[in-house]
Amino acid sequence: MLSISNSFISFYLLFHMLSLSGQVGGLKLRNPIMLAAGVLGTSGASLKRAAKAGAGCVVTKSIGRDPRDGHPGPTVVQVDCGLLNAMGLPNPGYKEFQEEINIAKLTGVPVVASIFGSDPKEFSEISSALRADAFELNLSCPHTECYGDELGRYPELVEIVTRSVKDRVDVPVWVKLTPNTADIVQLGFAAQRGGADAVVAINTLRAMAIDIEMGTPILGNIFGGLSGPAIKPVAVKCVYDLSANLDIPVIGVGGISTWEDTVEMIMAGAQGVQIGTALYRGYEVFHDITNGLLSYLERKSITLEQLRGMARRQL
Ligand code: SIN
Repeated sequence: MLSISNSFISFYLLFHMLSLSGQVGGLKLRNPIMLAAGVLGTSGASLKRAAKAGAGCVVTKSIGRDPRDGHPGPTVVQVDCGLLNAMGLPNPGYKEFQEEINIAKLTGVPVVASIFGSDPKEFSEISSALRADAFELNLSCPHTECYGDELGRYPELVEIVTRSVKDRVDVPVWVKLTPNTADIVQLGFAAQRGGADAVVAINTLRAMAIDIEMGTPILGNIFGGLSGPAIKPVAVKCVYDLSANLDIPVIGVGGISTWEDTVEMIMAGAQGVQIGTALYRGYEVFHDITNGLLSYLERKSITLEQLRGMARRQL
């Protein structure tokens, strides 16, 4: 009788410990698998769809102060190992976008506004006006003049921009970092000094493709950013280094397509992960990853907390 009740208690404890819910970058999430900033975050309807498909939270497409058309087409091209994009930060401007965020918020899933600006003043103007559950500062778009990594490759600017937003808002502030740098950890330290609640690593890698019949670059912008499976090992290394050095959490993004990729990223030290390019396969990816992750934790009898950073502790 005693052993039956003991097994029941162990089962009950394990079941509750293996829940995927918890804090990620200052937000309480039902699971740590999020929609990454990108083409699926352009409207309230698509954000809502990702939330309903099981995402723990959703990040909008990057929003700026003024409406922008973006770069000339083609803006996206499929390459052997992933996707190349040079969208050029097209968006309707933050005043038009609030309604889309409001629609997505009706799902009850946190909505993170990805924002960009050309200087700290623009970042601070947008973040003080937009109402979202958190902000992700795009300091890493690799192909748009005056924005993204044109600021984000300089630690001093990362720190100033982060502080300019952090001083204005009372919700978590995440900083999305560029891998197109000699030392991403210095950028992470700068975000931390500026008061960031988390860093997000990584944005796309600067890349290009050439049409060999025409002898011309394929993308309208000539070059763009590479995402998808090819960049996952780069992202894993960046997350590993950042989480080994920073005191704030790291959110992993870059080429994550499966639950196995997710386990790897969490083992590298990620507190949560974001899914972007893999969504071209369909929204089911959220359920596939959360189910796979839970089964893995059950099979190994470990918690998410024990999994986090495991690859570092094993050394
Ligand atoms: C874009 O809209 O050009 C992509 C944004 C990014 O790479 O951060």
